[in-house]
Amino acid sequence: MAAIVRLEGTVSGDLFRGRLVRLCAPRAEDADVLARWSEDGAYRRQADTDAPRPRTADHFRERDELSGSDPDTFEFRIRTLDDDRLVGFVAVCRIEWANRHGWVAVGLGEVADRRRGYGAEAVSLLLKYAFHELGLHRLSLDVIASNEAAISLYRKLGFQVEGRLRERVLRDGQAVDLIYMGLLCRDWESAQSAPASAPSLDG
Ligand SMILES: CC(C)(COP(=O)(O)OP(=O)(O)OC[C@H]1O[C@@H](n2cnc3c(N)ncnc32)[C@H](O)[C@@H]1OP(=O)(O)O)[C@@H](O)C(=O)NCCC(=O)NCCS
Repeated sequence: MAAIVRLEGTVSGDLFRGRLVRLCAPRAEDADVLARWSEDGAYRRQADTDAPRPRTADHFRERDELSGSDPDTFEFRIRTLDDDRLVGFVAVCRIEWANRHGWVAVGLGEVADRRRGYGAEAVSLLLKYAFHELGLHRLSLDVIASNEAAISLYRKLGFQVEGRLRERVLRDGQAVDLIYMGLLCRDWESAQSAPASAPSLDG
């Protein structure tokens, strides 16, 4: 049984800053990087279920302007602390305030930036923001069943598998399930106060 990841400095420390990365606002120059990532078919296929589509920098600039004024979406860019480099994004979106519920998304654009702890730290910061700043009660996400890296990350952070849409996604003629995962604020809070070796909520 895996322990839920509880990162030093993410719960009692700076709201937007971990040990490796920080969460910040989109910058105009990010759009060029996002356009480059949109041309990476493998990345887009992991991050989304719809058909990947290369986009221009202008597309991302316009999207950033719109999402910046959308009260139901909070998107952050992930930047490294050591050299302020853009490595990804993390977001809670489509918030239903009446239900205090939102959807989580994360992506690191470059393979070289993965498996270095950036994703876990950025999502940990986002969870604290979503539960303690936005006051959300529950977070949900969906993930393609073949995306073992993402499923493992989400489990470590306390998300439980709650459902499965069979053969929801087609990849090169193969039908793959879509997994639904969820995390309740109270479960996340107990994991934060439990000893580091506490058992996973995923029982
Ligand atoms: C999923 C993603 C965000 C993970 O971020 P990351 O920075 O690479 O992950 P971390 O280095 O923080 O690793 C945290 C945990 O995630 C899991 N993990 C990450 N990469 C993994 C891999 N390649 N294989 C198996 N588990 C992996 C592990 O449990 C890891 O903990 P460990 O290092 O103690 O084993 C990143 O791989 C990514 O952006 N992928 C492409 C886009 C995507 O799939 N987005 C999610 C869509 S639902």
